[in-house]
Amino acid sequence: MAADDPGANSFSGSSVLPDLVTFAADRRFATVLADPPWRFANRTGKMAPEHRRLARYTTMTVEEIGALPVAAIAAPTAHLYLWVPNALLPDGLAVMSAWGFAYKANLVWHKVRRDGGSDGRGVGFYFRNVTELLLFGVRGKNARTLAPGRRLVNYFATRKREHSRKPDEQYRIIEACSPGPHLEIFARGTRQGWAVWGNQAVADYRPTWKTYPAHIATERDPSLPRGLFDA
Ligand SMILES: C[S@@+](CC[C@H](N)C(=O)[O-])C[C@H]1O[C@@H](n2cnc3c(N)ncnc32)[C@H](O)[C@@H]1O
Repeated sequence: MAADDPGANSFSGSSVLPDLVTFAADRRFATVLADPPWRFANRTGKMAPEHRRLARYTTMTVEEIGALPVAAIAAPTAHLYLWVPNALLPDGLAVMSAWGFAYKANLVWHKVRRDGGSDGRGVGFYFRNVTELLLFGVRGKNARTLAPGRRLVNYFATRKREHSRKPDEQYRIIEACSPGPHLEIFARGTRQGWAVWGNQAVADYRPTWKTYPAHIATERDPSLPRGLFDA
């Protein structure tokens, strides 16, 4: 598929997912967003049974994720946004480094209920997690965020949607703070203006399991705590 072909921004669900380098062709992305299918291992290194039971997609080891050729498809100066579960923070930092980026900061997503309180329906062995971290790293020279980024606080609060679904607010934040071309890897669905790669990065993606009621709520609920873009 030619790099200037609009179809090169995603892949057809009926075809085999191309590897990242083939997908990128001659494109080099100035901003990469990644939400990898992290595998949760127990103390013996085996996949934790509770995660196997709840699995909704195939997972990858930290070695497999770290081996992805992200450095090869990123522009010489580039930003990386990497979602990492709280329990796997050291793995997130290791993957960021393996991909050739230096960790600089993070954005905290607070999962809230309709009334603005913490949404504690998540999992947690030690604490009930109501936040997730989006790690931010850079590579190359002059890699500061765009001007809006330097005025933003590193926190946003939105309602949960379906399992492992990240909030759409992330795209507004990233587009305001980081230059294009933008690439999302391990994306679900497609997005205008973004190249997307992943085995669910198809236009007709729909979750196949029960979701939270806020699943279709892509518009921000005005009753929620104020977020990054609220005046
Ligand atoms: C954590 S989910 C991403 C969720 C997404 N950010 C969202 O907000 O809905 C990880 C994604 O990686 C996909 N995936 C799993 N193994 C993959 C592989 N080997 N190659 C490409 N995608 C894979 C899963 O199907 C899933 O769509």
